[in-house]
Amino acid sequence: MLMEILYHITMGLIACWKACTWAVLYVIDKPIRRYVIRCYKESDVTIGGTKPTDIQVHRPDWFYHRIAQNATLGLGESYMDGWWDCDRLDEFFCRTIGDGQFKKWDYPWCRLIQYLQFHVFNLQTSKRSWEVAEKHYDLSNALFSSFLDPSMNYSCGFWRDAKDLTEAQQHKMELIGRP
Ligand SMILES: *[C@@H]1O[C@H](CO)[C@@H](O)[C@H](O)[C@H]1NC(C)=O
Ligand SMILES: *[C@@H]1O[C@H](CO)[C@@H](O)[C@H](O)[C@H]1NC(C)=O
Repeated sequence: MLMEILYHITMGLIACWKACTWAVLYVIDKPIRRYVIRCYKESDVTIGGTKPTDIQVHRPDWFYHRIAQNATLGLGESYMDGWWDCDRLDEFFCRTIGDGQFKKWDYPWCRLIQYLQFHVFNLQTSKRSWEVAEKHYDLSNALFSSFLDPSMNYSCGFWRDAKDLTEAQQHKMELIGRP
């Protein structure tokens, strides 16, 4: 009970903190942009540049704030939202991760928030894991058969010499079954 109250108070405070940083970031828009651009430049990535490893930002109005507030998660999620693109994602990550770029966004207060959210008040209990499993897996076969082979094998296939997924899965089963 006490833990629950503490949980709601802490989450409320974190939400306030996030809303405040969001507002601050919004107000100091230009310096934030310059800062993000400079950080990426240090990893030899030019935002809006012409190299295949450069990134093209489609939503400059929000992109920089998202990086500044949510770091790697913001980078990944904004990519999924189609806010930026890069011809050579592999090289882009090699440069930025190899350069320790992501550590720059790992502020001590973010670590404290993460610690509170994911260690002290972790919502993933064994009881709740059932809820997650139900939401993710108790779905119709129509969904699974749309991306699995006819045998509905869920694990990865064995692709050497296989021409499609069905064959890759058959080869895998043969490989596993071989004495
Ligand atoms: C950062 O992430 C949180 C939660 O995932 C989200 O609510 C917030 O809007 C994000 N911030 C930005 C600037 O996108
Ligand atoms: C893979 O398919 C075979 C044949 O349909 C089935 O017996 C087996 O249980 C499946 N394995 C997995 C991991 O889904």
